[in-house]
Amino acid sequence: MIACQKDKFSIPDHITYLNCSYMSPLPNEVETAGIEGLTNKKHPWEIFPADFFNPVEEVKKLFAKLINSNDHQRIAILPSVSYGIANVIKNISPKPGQNIVLLEEQFPSNFYSWQRLADESGCTLRIIKAPDSLVNRGEKWNEELLKNIDPSTVAVSTPQTHWADGTLFDLEKIRNKTNEVGALLIIDGTQSVGAFPFDVQKIKPDALICAGYKWLLGSYAFGLGYYSEKFDKGIPIEENWINRLDSEDFQKLVHYQPQYKPAAHRFCVGENSQFIAIPMMKKALQLILDWRPENIQEYCKSITSDAIEELRNNGCWIENESYRGHHLFGVRLPENLDIESVKKNALDNNIFVSFRGNAMRIAPHLFNTKNDLERVVGLVQ
Ligand SMILES: Cc1ncc(COP(=O)(O)O)c(C=O)c1O
Repeated sequence: MIACQKDKFSIPDHITYLNCSYMSPLPNEVETAGIEGLTNKKHPWEIFPADFFNPVEEVKKLFAKLINSNDHQRIAILPSVSYGIANVIKNISPKPGQNIVLLEEQFPSNFYSWQRLADESGCTLRIIKAPDSLVNRGEKWNEELLKNIDPSTVAVSTPQTHWADGTLFDLEKIRNKTNEVGALLIIDGTQSVGAFPFDVQKIKPDALICAGYKWLLGSYAFGLGYYSEKFDKGIPIEENWINRLDSEDFQKLVHYQPQYKPAAHRFCVGENSQFIAIPMMKKALQLILDWRPENIQEYCKSITSDAIEELRNNGCWIENESYRGHHLFGVRLPENLDIESVKKNALDNNIFVSFRGNAMRIAPHLFNTKNDLERVVGLVQ
């Protein structure tokens, strides 16, 4: 099994950081790459036209590899998830009577644009509530989602693992059902891609959108997306020079070019050459590809399983492991425990987790150890 990688980060020993789903710590090598990118601008005479394109292409290739796509032209550089979703929405036109399927409490960036689309088009948002009962909750939530995809469904937009509690959705089953009814499958991979395996060739999503500052270990305001051939003739939400064909030829930029670069290039944000964030993402993706998401899952499982048993023995509820990530899961605390004092206790002891309702969200990575999880168990005694 892969070893703990704490030496690749700068996390002091008194900090227990279990909150990667909020924001990952920056690996040291990613920090160095960013500083190099920053200082390069002191000497713009050393930045050439090829530097606007080649590093971006390398990042696209690395991300394509991570999600097992054999076509890096399908990858777009995005500033945020909301931007990536807006590109999708710009290119679909539902009619009254049709529906869009979402899950309850999805992250707002994968909700508001759909809500606007519904308001403007007269279609319905079909929001699949989480089951009230905790018995086989993940399994039942998946079943409910599948049941609600019907011939009037235009698109299903779902995470792979839910941001609030890590509930895992069976994307292959969802893809089969959306294919049966002719609906799009749009995935927000922010809380899974990088730490949980994602295979574009198996899942065949129509779009996969990921913020880069969590499990992709990159900087803020930098994300990556994949758009399938369904969007090859799509209209982007903005028109920038660099996405047009032959933009490499700086002398001819005002020979206005009607054609976009192929496939998903058209959806890249303006100024996507980002001289600081691109080298950071390149380094981060190299690290992740070296580690591999399946190894990250195995490692997180190995450091969390004893603690999960102890937490359950102490009256907590945690989803069964086939319906959650090992890198992200919710711990529902016993009713008799005062959540405010657990929260305070966590902060006082430098234990960083997130709290939602009466649940605690734990999100470990390769820099954590069993000891970090034992400290969490200590909060619930
Ligand atoms: C599931 C999910 N999607 C998206 C985001 C971020 O969205 P945006 O990039 O639009 O700020 C987050 C941030 O927590 C998230 O958890």
